[in-house]
Amino acid sequence: MHILVTGGAGYIGSTTSAHFLKAGHQVTVYDSLVKGHRAAVPADATFIKGDIGDRSALDVLFQSHDFDAVIHFAAFIEAGESMEDPGKYFRNNVVNSQVLLDAMMTYGVKKIVFSSTAAVYQSSASRLEENDPIGPTNVYGQTKLMIEDMIRWYEAQLGLRYAILRYFNACGAMVDEQGNAIRGEAHTPETHLIPLTLQVPLDQRPAITIFGDDYPTRDGTCIRDYVHVEDLASAHVLALEALDDRRTMTYNIGNGHGYSVSEVIDVARDVTGHDIPAVVAPRRAGDSPMLVASSEKLNDELGWEPKYPRLEQIIATAWAWHQSHPNGYDDGSG
Ligand SMILES: NC(=O)c1ccc[n+]([C@@H]2O[C@H](COP(=O)([O-])OP(=O)(O)OC[C@H]3O[C@@H](n4cnc5c(N)ncnc54)[C@H](O)[C@@H]3O)[C@@H](O)[C@H]2O)c1
Repeated sequence: MHILVTGGAGYIGSTTSAHFLKAGHQVTVYDSLVKGHRAAVPADATFIKGDIGDRSALDVLFQSHDFDAVIHFAAFIEAGESMEDPGKYFRNNVVNSQVLLDAMMTYGVKKIVFSSTAAVYQSSASRLEENDPIGPTNVYGQTKLMIEDMIRWYEAQLGLRYAILRYFNACGAMVDEQGNAIRGEAHTPETHLIPLTLQVPLDQRPAITIFGDDYPTRDGTCIRDYVHVEDLASAHVLALEALDDRRTMTYNIGNGHGYSVSEVIDVARDVTGHDIPAVVAPRRAGDSPMLVASSEKLNDELGWEPKYPRLEQIIATAWAWHQSHPNGYDDGSG
C-alpha cells in the first residue's frame, strides 16, 4: 500500500514509518516540521513539508499521489500547554484534522489510522478497557476525543474505514539490527517523564521534578502505563492491514502495568547507575491520577504482542538513545 503519514517526522510517526517500510509498504511523510525532525524521517520514505491545515497544499499532495490510507499523527501533544492555550490545541488538532479528513474524502482515500490517547478516559483504579467511561481531564485529551467523534461520523455518513488507536505513554527508542538506538524522543520542549529523568545523568538538569505527591495512588504520585514506541509502531501495521476486512476498530495500546512517577525514576536509577535526585513540586493542571491499559482486545483480535513488556528494557533503549544523541537530532528543527 502507499501510505501517507502525517506527522511522520515526529517521535512515533518516524518510527512507525520505518515499520511500514520494513513491512513492504510505500511511505510518504507529510509534516510541517513545527515540532518534528527531518533527520528522523527514514531514508526510504518520501518527505513533503506541509501543514495538514493547508487545504491547497493537501489538494496538490492528493492530486499528485495515489494513497491507499492515511496514518494521522500530526498534532500538538502537550497536555499542560493545552490547559494554558486551549485555542492552539483546538485549532491544530481538531480544525486541521477536519481539513485533512475532508481532503481524504474529496480524493477517495477512505482508510485512516488515528493516534488517539489514554487521555480520553476518566482516571480509573483498574485497567481501562475500550468501553470504559470517557472523560478527558485536559484540553489535549478533549481534542483527541473530538477527532475520534468526527472520524466516527465520517465512517457512518461517508464510508471512511478507521482504526482509532489509544496510546498510553509512548517511550523508548527504536533500535536497529546492530543494537544501535536510531530514533528516539527529541521533543522541544520535552515534557515526558523518561527523557526528562534521563537528562539528570546526562548532566542536562540537576534533578527531576515530580508534579504532585498527594494523588490517591499507592505512593501519591501519578500512575501510567508505559509502552515502547516500536510496539506502538507494530500495532499500526497490524491495524492498517486489518482494515481490508474490518470497517471500524478502536484499541488501547499499553503494557497493562502501572508504574508511579517515583517507580519510573527508581527504574531509571537502576538502568543508569545514577542516583537521580528528585524534587516534589505542586500538581500540574490536567493530570489524571491513574491511567493503565488493558490491551487484551488488541491482543485477541489482531494478535499484537509487545516486544518490550518490561519498563527496564524500555528505559534501557531510551538511555542508549539519549547517550548517543545527547542533543537529539541536532538538526536545528523541532
Ligand atoms: N507521545 C505520547 O506519549 C503519545 C501518547 C498518546 C498519543 N500520542 C499521539 O501520537 C501522535 C504523535 O506523538 P509524538 O510523541 O510523536 O509527537 P511529535 O510532536 O514528536 O510528533 C508530531 C508531529 O506532527 C507534526 N505536526 C504537528 N502539527 C502539524 C500540522 N498542522 N501539519 C503537519 N505536521 C504537523 C510535528 O511537526 C511533529 O513532527 C500525536 O498525535 C499524539 O497526540 C502521543
